[in-house]
Amino acid sequence: MTPPAQPPPGTNPLTEALERQPVHATVLVIFGATGDLAKRKLLPALYNLAHEGALPEHFALIGNARSELSDEEFRASAVASVREFSRREPDETVLDKLFADARYVSGSFGDDEVFESLATILPELDERAGVTLNRCFYLSTAPEFFPVIVKQLGAHDLGEPADAEARVIIEKPFGTRLQEARELNETVLSVFEERQVFRIDHYLGKETVQNVLALRFANGMFEPLWNRNYIDHVQITASEDIGIGTRAGYYDNAGALRDLVQNHMLQLLTLLCMEPPVDFSADEVRNEKVKVLRAIHAPTEDEVADMTVRGQYTAGNVAGVDVPGYLDEDGVPEDSHTETFAALRLEVDNWRWAGVPMVLRTGKSLARKVTEIAVTLKPVPHIAFTGEGSQGVRPNVLVLTVQPNEGVSLAIGAKIPGTRMAIRQVQMEFLYGSAFLSQSPEAYERLILDAMRGDATLFTRNDEVEAQWNIIDPIIAAWQRTTEPPARYEAGSQGPAEAQTLLGANRAWRMI
Ligand code: BG6
Repeated sequence: MTPPAQPPPGTNPLTEALERQPVHATVLVIFGATGDLAKRKLLPALYNLAHEGALPEHFALIGNARSELSDEEFRASAVASVREFSRREPDETVLDKLFADARYVSGSFGDDEVFESLATILPELDERAGVTLNRCFYLSTAPEFFPVIVKQLGAHDLGEPADAEARVIIEKPFGTRLQEARELNETVLSVFEERQVFRIDHYLGKETVQNVLALRFANGMFEPLWNRNYIDHVQITASEDIGIGTRAGYYDNAGALRDLVQNHMLQLLTLLCMEPPVDFSADEVRNEKVKVLRAIHAPTEDEVADMTVRGQYTAGNVAGVDVPGYLDEDGVPEDSHTETFAALRLEVDNWRWAGVPMVLRTGKSLARKVTEIAVTLKPVPHIAFTGEGSQGVRPNVLVLTVQPNEGVSLAIGAKIPGTRMAIRQVQMEFLYGSAFLSQSPEAYERLILDAMRGDATLFTRNDEVEAQWNIIDPIIAAWQRTTEPPARYEAGSQGPAEAQTLLGANRAWRMI
């Protein structure tokens, strides 16, 4: 038999899927182009796409924000942002070329002149490219401006170019309550069709989050176990070691529940629990995700106390550094009850999952940054080994680590070498870093490219975002009603001890 062909030296056959797909000529308009997100994430992501040759041959960029800047000043600031925040050292030629023709329109989002200028510049760019460019409008602004900008785009007929596609990319948070999300959906869908709308949840752009689907649906061994018969409970953790930094203005109104649970954590939960889609097209995948969200019973306000814990950090020490408590952070009111930690016990009430506790926790200023999904299987029904060694038999745990040390590990019982039948848990591990030998792209690179290609699989659909809020809304309402302050936890710790109550007997949170 002929042996399989060897890959050329220096190539890694496991990274083949990273090859790029074609993208139609596009102009990207960033509203809020001088803001923090644009500087830290969007402009560096564009650079890295350019570096890899993934942007279309005809690509144009227009920035808009309130600051008075010339085109030249905007270009210089974009270059500076890439130098500071790009994941790779920029190549000067690629960097210069990327922003050489970038345009800037200054003005407030409500100003007609901004949109009139866009209406002049966009056709000029088409003319110059010799092709009608698809238009992507990226709303990277404070959320109160989302409806303002969308209405302006509609009023100035920018949402429907002849012979090309227009798309709108909307950052989070998409509303702050269910009613607001509904109203925002109505406004957006009065100007754009759903297929043109790309609601960002950057967790969906993370390679390791997409790997949840690969693990489940590309392997025969997990799916038979993936149900209430074999799974005892699921723990999803998104802990951060940083505090709120300079974001008090936003964070004190949002809190951990809105900031991370309503979006990122519910996304992780739905990917873990969804049924296999017919294919990986945007609607098939999102149909299945929405079914999971609908199967999660939205708590009544009275149930909230038993199924949630909220906490707030006090002064402490994170990784050797003394840090202030939340109430002493700049800009936080001294009597704030905003939660910087949230833990929830949910149940996906369907045939596959009924009765399996799904516990979620997230918080700022905890011991360590880690995002993981840990699936604990039920214990074996009978332990045949007698004697002291059998005490080491523990349930299997499958851990999908989203970050850092991206990978998958399975805790299994193994015999400790020696004459006794003593068992210990050991780890079988797959680590992205060593298996693929390449740096994963940043989430925003993948998402910007997908939006430019019109593929909405990794974006949140209108009914999905409303189904998320439907679960979160009663919790917000109950927390707002109570006069009790949140449980306290020391910065750098594992979070409030009260969170233990959500797990039930014989279960413990994993160490952060
Ligand atoms: C953002 C939140 O959506 O996600 C931040 O607003 C949080 O508060 C961040 O720090 C976490 O993202 P990542 O990719 O660092 O896990």
